[in-house]
Amino acid sequence: MQPASFYKATRYQNAALEYYLGLTNSPYLHYGYWETPPASPTALTPADLRVAQQAYADRLLALIPDAVKAILDVGCGIGGNAAYLLSQGYTVEGLAPDSFQQQQFVQRTEGRAPFHLSRFEDFQTTQTYDLLLFSESSQYLAAIDLAQRSRQFLKPDGYLLIADMFRKDAAYQEGIFSNCVVIQELELALKQQGFELIQVDDISANITPTIDLCLNYFQTFGLTTLKYIAQLVQIAVPPLYKLGQMGFQRWLKAPIDEAMQAREVFEQHLCYQIRLWHLPA
Ligand SMILES: C[S@@+](CC[C@H](N)C(=O)[O-])C[C@H]1O[C@@H](n2cnc3c(N)ncnc32)[C@H](O)[C@@H]1O
Repeated sequence: MQPASFYKATRYQNAALEYYLGLTNSPYLHYGYWETPPASPTALTPADLRVAQQAYADRLLALIPDAVKAILDVGCGIGGNAAYLLSQGYTVEGLAPDSFQQQQFVQRTEGRAPFHLSRFEDFQTTQTYDLLLFSESSQYLAAIDLAQRSRQFLKPDGYLLIADMFRKDAAYQEGIFSNCVVIQELELALKQQGFELIQVDDISANITPTIDLCLNYFQTFGLTTLKYIAQLVQIAVPPLYKLGQMGFQRWLKAPIDEAMQAREVFEQHLCYQIRLWHLPA
């Protein structure tokens, strides 16, 4: 059972995902990989982000060992990674607990990849896979569930490919990224299940431009639009404006202030890594 703060942070993450999807109009829901981090965040556009997201998908693909054929894409989102893997000749199944993503996934993979509408913790199958992919989905799971269930669904000699934000600071327990798995806990849980670490790529510096891009758009368009709507309400329905102002101060100001600090919070408490693990036969 996760603490209440975990579920709250997860809901903030889901809200951010929807915002991200609207902003990027991309088949991917991940941060992407910026080959050369740009000098100024204000120069970044959603079109640049889509290029970075494709570079990230290529990086994941390059890490998949040759023997792998059947992949379970855990937390598959709207099917961008799965469609790409299919195009490269892999057999893919997707899993996510969200029916909107299911519809997008089936459409994007043209029905060529089965979709399981389930949380990983509740997933039931007799099938086993050569590789489980967690592309930014480990942050929704407890380390112990991820490790135990991955072992259950992998063939002997199987692999686990995890790319995500991780907490490098276990003391960071409240806030927008506090649902991310503590890296040392994941490492311990996987070792206890017999996994061996094969490769670690720390790409923290290559994902931060995406945080900058989202914040820049949020500040320029999101907050400006919010202020404009507030002014319209102030003119048209003053009592409603007063109520809205109180509600904003009470419930919204703190999460928005914190979101605006996302880059600093990330750099202080988190890292972004791609890790490949092997489960020896
Ligand atoms: C940030 S998105 C990443 C989507 C996709 N893997 C990608 O790289 O574009 C996180 C995904 O994890 C899924 N997810 C959330 N909780 C989950 C759980 N308990 N079990 C499996 N997937 C989960 C979300 O629904 C979403 O599909």
